[in-house]
Amino acid sequence: MELRVVTEFPWAVPADALVVPVAGEPAFEGSLGELDRRSGGELSALAAFGELSGKRYATALAAPGELPVRRLVVVGAGEPTSIDRETVVRLAAAGLRRLAGRRVERLAVWCEPLVGLLGDAPAVAELVTRGVVEGGYDPKRLYRDDVEGAPPRIAELILVAPGADTSRLVAAAERGRIVGEGANLARDLANRSAAELPPEGLAEAARSIAADHGLAADVIDERRAAELGMNLFLAVGRGSDNPPRLIVLRSGRPDERDAQGRLLALLGKGVCFDSGGISIKPADRMEEMKMDKAGAATVIAAAATISRLAPGLPFLVLAPAVENMPGPHSTRPGDVVRALNGKWVDITNTDAEGRLILGDALTYAERLGATHLVDVATLTGAVGRMLGHLVTGGFGAPQAWYDTVAAAARRAGERLWQIPLVDDYRADMDSWYGDFTNAGAPEAGLVKSGLFLKEFVTVPWVHLDIGGTAYFRKPAPYAPRGATGVTHATLVELALEGAAGRAA
Ligand code: BES
Ligand code: MN
Ligand code: ZN
Repeated sequence: MELRVVTEFPWAVPADALVVPVAGEPAFEGSLGELDRRSGGELSALAAFGELSGKRYATALAAPGELPVRRLVVVGAGEPTSIDRETVVRLAAAGLRRLAGRRVERLAVWCEPLVGLLGDAPAVAELVTRGVVEGGYDPKRLYRDDVEGAPPRIAELILVAPGADTSRLVAAAERGRIVGEGANLARDLANRSAAELPPEGLAEAARSIAADHGLAADVIDERRAAELGMNLFLAVGRGSDNPPRLIVLRSGRPDERDAQGRLLALLGKGVCFDSGGISIKPADRMEEMKMDKAGAATVIAAAATISRLAPGLPFLVLAPAVENMPGPHSTRPGDVVRALNGKWVDITNTDAEGRLILGDALTYAERLGATHLVDVATLTGAVGRMLGHLVTGGFGAPQAWYDTVAAAARRAGERLWQIPLVDDYRADMDSWYGDFTNAGAPEAGLVKSGLFLKEFVTVPWVHLDIGGTAYFRKPAPYAPRGATGVTHATLVELALEGAAGRAA
């Protein structure tokens, strides 16, 4: 996709379609009024007819009148006061998706109204471009090239920004394209079936991404994991014929720190399929559990994106990949297992497996020298019941590190809500046999999932529970059903803080 920034008025830019953002009740004055006049009054007529409302992500197609495009795509931005970075990404995606099935090669997006609302032209250029790239994603393209009704593949994106500093905006748009492509890579890895991407398949994908981006890859197999003492990791993996793999990617030299003095480690839960194991799940919607590797997909894709934007920046990525299956070799409820950090875990429920593999991976990340940890995991169903599919649950300690990650999420346009790590509930997880169980009494189960992981960290750590946000069960105007790539942009923003003077 070719990227171009033009400073002409939107009525002077030839393209196949022009995306027109409108906030709140549209008033046809100023440039929007001029656009309406030149469309022969099409826009105001649609508004009068009730088809053009300005409601968030509501879209309408309009004939162009004398404008040099074939269609206008009006996209509602919602109430002007509540427009944030997420709105801009999703609005651009919704605009593209409204054109699904049409032949559109040159897409123009009128950025001026968004710059007025967000007050930051380069940010708008970045977020609109990212939105167009992410909006073009269709999971059906994993299996077929000619998907009917798929969003059009754009050959040229034209950002229409009268009065803009074009070279700054082009650079920002490039960044948006790269971040969007990274999110789509994460979605590809998450959407692929468990048959296509068992742990070794995910490791192979990570190796090839590492080779393409100058990263060192180390894939720890079950033999080495046993030598090291990663028994929580192995306990989950042993029920499957597809052996577990701990994927480790490193950028930079082992003793190197970033410009913030950090060695950031990004960890992702890579349960290629979560049947629940012996504590087997009900059949209903079990097929969704191929998505239980979404955390791993996200951090592996983030490794690629960060390396594209800041080659050589030191960071680590760890993705424990397993299949959680019932079988004659499976871990049984009641098995007591010694973790890599020496703690004894009483596995009372084999379906609380994500915290087990992450426990050992967090310990190992610290052994590799990580000073700051962020893990991403489809850890609980509870987070989705609490926050739904639009808000990720965040945990962390100390608070200053959580706040740093939350600020990165805001810059990335991703919604996060903090869940408290209430230590008093830890007593509910006590075990008669070991140090603690992996699934205590269900009260405050979401808090306890965080308390469990906290047993495995000694440095600043944040846990992002994407159990609700990793995939959509039904399509939205801005995204198809399936994996969302959520938190990818947040991780990239966070890592790039360490790139002062290095980022491309
Ligand atoms: N992968 C699931 C969590 C999940 C469920 C994510 C549905 C997205 C949609 C996780 O491994 C799990 O099974 N968690 C249990 C924990 C419980 C046994 C303590 C859960 O949430 O029920
Ligand atoms: Mn589970
Ligand atoms: Zn799981």
